[in-house]
Amino acid sequence: MTATTTITVSGDAGYDIHVGRGILNRVGDALAPSVRKVLIIHPPTLGAAAAQLRERLMSGGTREVLLAEIPDAEQGKRVEVAAFCWQVMGKADFTRTDAVIGFGGGAVTDLAGFVAATWLRGVQVVQVPTTVLGMVDAAVGGKTGINTAEGKNLVGAFWAPREVVCDLDLLDSLSPNETVAGYAEVVKAGFIWYPEILDLIEADPAAAVDPATPAFRRCVELAIEMKARVVGEDFREGGLREVLNYGHTLGHAIEHAERYRWRHGAAVSVGMMYAAELSRLAGRLPDAAAARHRDVLELLGLPTTYRAGAWPQLLATMQRDKKSRGGMLRFIVLDDIGRPTVLQAPDESLLFAAYQEVSG
Ligand code: GLY
Repeated sequence: MTATTTITVSGDAGYDIHVGRGILNRVGDALAPSVRKVLIIHPPTLGAAAAQLRERLMSGGTREVLLAEIPDAEQGKRVEVAAFCWQVMGKADFTRTDAVIGFGGGAVTDLAGFVAATWLRGVQVVQVPTTVLGMVDAAVGGKTGINTAEGKNLVGAFWAPREVVCDLDLLDSLSPNETVAGYAEVVKAGFIWYPEILDLIEADPAAAVDPATPAFRRCVELAIEMKARVVGEDFREGGLREVLNYGHTLGHAIEHAERYRWRHGAAVSVGMMYAAELSRLAGRLPDAAAARHRDVLELLGLPTTYRAGAWPQLLATMQRDKKSRGGMLRFIVLDDIGRPTVLQAPDESLLFAAYQEVSG
């Protein structure tokens, strides 16, 4: 068995993120001894695995463990689903010293975190992500939330998990498409923080996205390390944390235009290519560094272009998104690989010129 890596998020509400294989048996170790009831929130595909987790957590016989099966993906991030979980907890007399476990992909851990943050004004949550996206991003930073009819993640809370357990065995059953789409967030960590990730992808792209290889594990650990450092410094996104939005401003608008049929990672991939072109045209990023974006993303089979005629709609969505969050249009751009910064209220002609570079 390979060793487990532990990455610590610092701060008042600090916590450990464990990465390894065959480590589901450590889920729950970080729960306080006072926890008597645990709710495991999981999607239908993980029903059997959740039942096993339940057995494990109950051995010793001192805890009551309940399961709440919820719809997978964005269908799970609805207030009706949160209300269902609150109902389960209410019927089982969950108290302030009980706990929630989020077991699933990014949407499931977002919902589970939100349920934990809101029950009796906040109970402990342990996150057990089962996808690449969940392990390197969604389950790691303590952002929790649900969608409303008006948009994604409009309701939520910052709620740090008690611990995060990333068991890489769970990734072995993912399709290569799912792995690669989730991997876009790993590539993001390469562009904004740890270029070693890009070196590893360039050296052997197939190995870098294969969960069985040391290169994959190294890249995933670097991406988690980056997120842990950023979140440890700026949990509530008062400044530094915003760099994690690299590629996300246009990416979210593409997801919206595609009515969420595109995977998040695919949309963020185009978004990162766009941000690189914006950085280059703004006179910040060297040509070679923008070209490196295209090369790395294409090596992985991730998209780097979007429909030429979509610009007016994408711009309108980005502007509306910003307005609903009370801000001006801002993009994370790069001064170089590993050097992110903010570009505030850029000229529309510059924004359009950058879009022309990514519209095919
Ligand atoms: N996914 C962006 C963040 O966690 O801040």
